[in-house]
Amino acid sequence: MTTPEPVEIHRGLNGVYFDRSETSDIDGHAGELRYRGYSIHDLATHSSFEEVAYLLFHGELPTRAQLEAFDAQLKAARTLPDAVLDVIRAVQGAHPMDVLRTAVSALAATDPEVADNSREATARKGVRLTSQVPMIVAAHHRIRQGLPLVPADPSLNHAGNFLQMLKGERPSEDAVELMDMDLVLHAEHGTNASAFTARVVAGTDANLHAAVTAAIGALSGPAHGGAAEQVMRMAQEIGAPEHAAVYVKAKRANREPIMGFGHRVYRVEDPRARHMREGVRRLSAEMGQPQWYAILEAVVEAMRPYSRLGVAVNVDFYAGVVYYLHGIPEDLFVPIFAIGRTPGWAVQVLEQFAHNVLIRPLTLYTGPAPREYVPMERRG
Ligand SMILES: CC(C)(COP(=O)(O)OP(=O)(O)OC[C@H]1O[C@@H](n2cnc3c(N)ncnc32)[C@H](O)[C@@H]1OP(=O)(O)O)[C@@H](O)C(=O)NCCC(=O)NCCS
Repeated sequence: MTTPEPVEIHRGLNGVYFDRSETSDIDGHAGELRYRGYSIHDLATHSSFEEVAYLLFHGELPTRAQLEAFDAQLKAARTLPDAVLDVIRAVQGAHPMDVLRTAVSALAATDPEVADNSREATARKGVRLTSQVPMIVAAHHRIRQGLPLVPADPSLNHAGNFLQMLKGERPSEDAVELMDMDLVLHAEHGTNASAFTARVVAGTDANLHAAVTAAIGALSGPAHGGAAEQVMRMAQEIGAPEHAAVYVKAKRANREPIMGFGHRVYRVEDPRARHMREGVRRLSAEMGQPQWYAILEAVVEAMRPYSRLGVAVNVDFYAGVVYYLHGIPEDLFVPIFAIGRTPGWAVQVLEQFAHNVLIRPLTLYTGPAPREYVPMERRG
């Protein structure tokens, strides 16, 4: 086959624009992130996850009445079909991300609007999934521990209900606030690997459940959502702030990445990181475990020479320690990312459907030149 020369290859599609989006605006050089024009700092400081999810789905911040109606929709969707709970029980020994992916796929079998790709039905399914994803994560965690399921509590907000369903006890206000902010920070982030995956699936006119199932698969890798889990392991391995520099040096000597650093888009600090950093600082002091904050800051210090190369702290660097200090097991860190990101995935799929096109890039063939077929008896 003849290939037009020269072909420019963008490995990893780095720097390639493949569509337009009105959802989130990322300036990787200035370190800015906006959802529908609003700064992540304002949203993280002043808005709840429910408000942000409304903003993503509807394009505008809600009035009080609009927020109440949206909140009622989210709460009404806090149910999981028995068939999906049975699926979770059947695969309970797997990693929570594998369980989540399987359970979201199973939800497709029970959602009455699964095959309806209209804007309205897709938005309704997006709202339902936003409520169901945290329920799956919580239900699985209870099931694998042999504990009874905790019913949804309409007196609690999205973050608080998740924590209560997970732990079986009323969460503190502080824990709810931090989790709520964490979900706001993770709600949307352009076409990163998981959202792009969702759009590729939607590009074939497959449904939202198929797209979100695939997105969860993409998120599960350590280069994407898995970093928070690895950062906590790193902090434990380092053990004390004075060991951080040696640790970083040894990793870099092996050309291994330091988890929670680096980003495909940000060349400076990820703007979401500062909010979680403050959470780690406050929590670790309050809980009498200041070593975690000190270790992370020592790693930042040891990584300072790399910031000149555009490798800086990302949101996952601090998120894992916040979860850890709240007593959340490490393998639930990525599922919590998925809980926050579900509205973002749904909105990316809505954008894709709005003017759909099959996403089908090319690879430059570099295999053998055309050759004659060799029958089995003449091989080897
Ligand atoms: C996120 C990530 C996959 C982005 O990768 P990418 O855009 O393909 O960037 P590259 O791997 O091409 O890195 C560019 C340079 O920065 C360096 N770099 C990138 N991430 C680094 C890290 N975490 N620690 C140390 N150096 C890093 C690379 O070694 C490379 O240097 P080189 O050109 O001398 O080889 C990568 O930074 C990474 O693996 N980070 C750790 C995992 C993580 O925290 N992921 C969560 C992202 S929110």
